[in-house]
Amino acid sequence: MDTYKLLITGGQPLKGDVEISGGKNTSVAVIPATLMCDEPCVIENMPDIEDVHVLRDILQMLGAKVSYDSTLKRLSVDPRGVNSCEVPYRQTRRMRASYYLLGALLTRFGEANVGYPGGCAIGNRPFDQHIKGFRALGATVTEANGMICAKGKLSGATVYFDRPTVGGTVNVMLAAVKAKGNSVLLNAAKEPHIVDLANFLNAMGAKIKGAGTDMIRIRGVESLHGGTYAVIPDQIETGTLMIAAAATRGDVTLHGCIPTHMESLSAKLLERGASVTDMDDDSGIPPMSAHRAVNIKTQEYPGFPTDLHQPMIALLCMAQVNSLIHETIFESRFKHLSEMRRMGAHVQIMEQTALIEGVPELHGAPVTVTDLRAGAALVVAGLMATGTTEIYEPGLIERGYEHLEEKLRSLGAIIRREPV
Ligand code: EPU
Repeated sequence: MDTYKLLITGGQPLKGDVEISGGKNTSVAVIPATLMCDEPCVIENMPDIEDVHVLRDILQMLGAKVSYDSTLKRLSVDPRGVNSCEVPYRQTRRMRASYYLLGALLTRFGEANVGYPGGCAIGNRPFDQHIKGFRALGATVTEANGMICAKGKLSGATVYFDRPTVGGTVNVMLAAVKAKGNSVLLNAAKEPHIVDLANFLNAMGAKIKGAGTDMIRIRGVESLHGGTYAVIPDQIETGTLMIAAAATRGDVTLHGCIPTHMESLSAKLLERGASVTDMDDDSGIPPMSAHRAVNIKTQEYPGFPTDLHQPMIALLCMAQVNSLIHETIFESRFKHLSEMRRMGAHVQIMEQTALIEGVPELHGAPVTVTDLRAGAALVVAGLMATGTTEIYEPGLIERGYEHLEEKLRSLGAIIRREPV
C-alpha cells in the first residue's frame, strides 16, 4: 500500500517543453546484458525508475559493483565479481524483466536458477517461447519450487517464435550471443528496444544482424568487452505525454524523443483531430482542433503499442463521438475501466474490444491504479476531468515513468501528493 495519493485538478491545457527520459523496456534488457561482459559497462540515459532500482539491487546481490547517478542518469556496472547464478523469487517477483536474468546468467555461467517473474497483471503472460528458444540452443530447462533452472553448453540454432514476443526475442538473443556457432531467430519481435539491445551487445563485441526485422542472425562470439552506451528514449513515455497534451488540448514540445517510433500513435492522433509536428528528435503537439472517432487495434511494432492503449482510452472517452480499441496482445488490459467509469466514462468491453461512447465531460473521483499503464490512463483522465481526481496506489506509475508528476507540473498541470 502506498503511503501517498496523487491529487490532480483537471482542466488545465498542458503547455511548454518537456524532455523525454531513457526507455524503461530497453534499460531492463540492457542491465542484465551487462552481466555477460568481461569488463565494466557504463550505461547512460538510464531512467530513475523503480524497475532500474530493482535490477541494480539484484546485480549487487549477485556480486556486481553497481552505482547509479540519478542526476547524470548514469549506471555503472562492474560485473567481474559476479559469483552467483541464482536469483530468488523475492527479487524476481518485483518486475517482469527479471526473466532476462535467465538468458544473461545462462550465458555467463552455463547455468541460471531464477524465480518466476512478476510485473503487471495484464494477462496470462506465458514464457514458453523463451524456454523453447533456450532448449533449441541446447539448454535443459526445468521448473521446480517456483524456480526456473536453465543449464547447459549452448550452440547456435534456428529458433522460430510461434508469435512475435519481445521478452522471448530478448532472452534468446542474450543466450545466443556467446553460443558456439550461428543462430537465426525467426518471427522475432521488431520493437525499438530489441534494436537497442542488439546495438548495445554489438558495441560490446557481439555479432548480431537484422534486429528490427523479423529475422535476426547472430554469430556466436567468445567474449564481450565493456564500454559506454546510451539507451534510446522511452517510446511509451513519449506517447503518454503526446496523448496527455492532445487530451488537454495543450501545446507541448517533446524533446529528445524518436518521432519515427511514434508513427502509429501520430497517425491515430491525426485521425482524432490533433496535429503532430516532427523535427529531428523533437515532436510537437499543438492544440487539437476536432474530436473525431478513432478505431484502434493494438499490434506488435510497428503497429499501435498495447502499452499506449490504456492512456489512449482516456483521451477517447471525452468527446461527442464513439470509438473502439481492440486489444490483441494482453487479455486483461482493461482493469482501469471500472475506475474510469467512476469518473463518468462510458465504456463497455466485448471480448477484447473496448467500446467507448464519448461523453462531454469526465469528473474527478477517487480511483485506484491497478497496473503501470492503467496508472498513466488515470493520470490522463484526471488531467481532462472537471474537479479533483484522487489516485490511490500511484507508486506503480514510478515503476516505469521517470518523475511523471514533476514533468506534468512543469507543463502546468495541477498535481500534488498527499499522505494517505
Ligand atoms: N507470449 C507467449 N509466450 C511467450 C511470450 C509471450 O504466448 O513465451 C505472448 C504474451 O502472452 C503476449 C504476447 O505474446 O500475448 C506478447 O508478449 P511479449 O513477450 O511481447 O511481452 P513481454 O515481453 O512480456 C514486453 C514489455 C511490455 C509490453 C510487451 C508488448 C518489457 C519488460 N515488457 O512484455 O511492457 O507490453 O512487451 O510490447 O519489455 C509495460 O511497459 O507496461 C509493459 C507491460
